[in-house]
Amino acid sequence: MSVETDPYAVSAPFIDPLIAGFWEGVAPSLTAELTGLTAGSGPVVDLGAGSGRGVRVIGTALPGVPVVAVEPSAAMRTALFARLVDDPGLAARTTVVAADALAVELPAATRAVVAMNVLGHLAPAERARLWRRVAERLAPGGALLVNNQPPHAPSAVPLARGNAFRVGDHDYEGWVRAEPAGEDRILWHMTYKTLQGGRCVAEVAVDYDWWVVTDERLRAEWSAHGPTARVAGTGPSAFHVVTAAPDGAPAR
Ligand SMILES: C[S@@+](CC[C@H](N)C(=O)[O-])C[C@H]1O[C@@H](n2cnc3c(N)ncnc32)[C@H](O)[C@@H]1O
Repeated sequence: MSVETDPYAVSAPFIDPLIAGFWEGVAPSLTAELTGLTAGSGPVVDLGAGSGRGVRVIGTALPGVPVVAVEPSAAMRTALFARLVDDPGLAARTTVVAADALAVELPAATRAVVAMNVLGHLAPAERARLWRRVAERLAPGGALLVNNQPPHAPSAVPLARGNAFRVGDHDYEGWVRAEPAGEDRILWHMTYKTLQGGRCVAEVAVDYDWWVVTDERLRAEWSAHGPTARVAGTGPSAFHVVTAAPDGAPAR
């Protein structure tokens, strides 16, 4: 992924603080799911690890367990490495892989695959390939933990201010809207504003292609490989827990 083709090259300075609230909400249930897994001692893979907030939750939930943080964007890896080197214990057991979800070789007997806020980057055929590879590599009793952000159909999302944060004299705001872009696709329009004393002093914008899918369709995709799926968490913190059978046999 080059800087020219990576939308996160524009948004990377803002993503980590703007996504902090999501991780505050999801951390308790993700921690509970990870600690409740019956899988053995294998690593946890975080697909599209971004700035590493998920890696930190995984690392805290499962002390001593190796983590593989897969992140194709160089801009996002900058934030990820900054988070890791400030936590030497986590850095020692986290391997950062500069690849996308489909290019990475999942370790054998993976304990869990975490994929938060990343699903829409995968086209249906890519999802199908990923589910097959995850099913092959998950340890018995392991799980895929993945959220499906709305919308789940190609509908318009009206312009709204998303999250915001303040650093020094500046307020930073993320603005978001989306429009349908074909069957199963939307186009997100993201705008990041810098304000001083309420006045906008800088603004950058970037568009993201995003594939949309219903939860029903996801469950049908997963059931082709045999695991059971249920939902953990609620509201914006909800995510799917797709569990490989404890004995390695298909769960259904
Ligand atoms: C919205 S960010 C979420 C980051 C992180 N998972 C979080 O929730 O804080 C989406 C991330 O997915 C990464 N990404 C985009 N396409 C990807 C792909 N095909 N495979 C893996 N990661 C991808 C982006 O570079 C970006 O860091």
